[in-house]
Amino acid sequence: MIGTQTPKIIEHVPAGQMCCDPIWEEAYSRFETPEEEIAKFIGRLKRFGFEKLNRQSRIVEIFCGRGNGLVALERMGFERVEGVDLSDTLLRQYEGDAQLHLANCLSLPFEDASFDIVIVQGGLHHLPNMPDDLEQSLHEVKRILCPDGRFYVIEPWRTPFLTFAHFVTELKVMRKLYAKGDALAVMTEQERVTYEQWLGMPDVIRRAFGKHLTEVRWQTSWGKLAGVFAP
Ligand SMILES: C[S@@+](CC[C@H](N)C(=O)[O-])C[C@H]1O[C@@H](n2cnc3c(N)ncnc32)[C@H](O)[C@@H]1O
Repeated sequence: MIGTQTPKIIEHVPAGQMCCDPIWEEAYSRFETPEEEIAKFIGRLKRFGFEKLNRQSRIVEIFCGRGNGLVALERMGFERVEGVDLSDTLLRQYEGDAQLHLANCLSLPFEDASFDIVIVQGGLHHLPNMPDDLEQSLHEVKRILCPDGRFYVIEPWRTPFLTFAHFVTELKVMRKLYAKGDALAVMTEQERVTYEQWLGMPDVIRRAFGKHLTEVRWQTSWGKLAGVFAP
């Protein structure tokens, strides 16, 4: 759905460079409605303890997609929110006041130490050249965080639940009966190379985080990594 409010987008790279093809973007858009996604993001932010954080914190969500994570932050009262993504088609779907940046997260368009909080929700597993791209991305996160800042991470993680969820959503009958399951299966098919690559190197990923950042929390459950890191 294209919003009625025109989002503020600064183009640091030319448009049309999306990493994910239109089939993936279409499945991503029908996987959850914006309201379902916003409710999910608010739940995650609360579990990370965002209700206690200063509403004047400078926050950037990297790999923000269509920006519903930014809407969640805005609904929780955060006022200094920005988003970065490589897809102009997804960024244009955002409805809100946050400043958006069309940019590559391997080269963030921000000054050193310019944010209190950086967030990623399901973006790092799209990086093609692992672990180099992850290292570059984490290097950039560390660079833009202020000394007492925090990096909040949600990414897929191979847990027994994820294996079971994949098994179920890939069943043909489930794909017919359950629209969300079909959208998830299409997304998984489209991003299979980077997704499988990410899921297949948990130790390499944890080492990369440890090389660039200090681990504050590392929790893996329900098919997700929920991590908090300091610079
Ligand atoms: C799974 S989506 C997640 C979007 C959003 N965080 C969410 O949870 O709805 C991954 C996003 O990463 C973006 N992306 C992939 N590689 C990127 C890169 N190198 N720099 C910036 N964005 C990138 C894609 O365009 C896509 O919007």
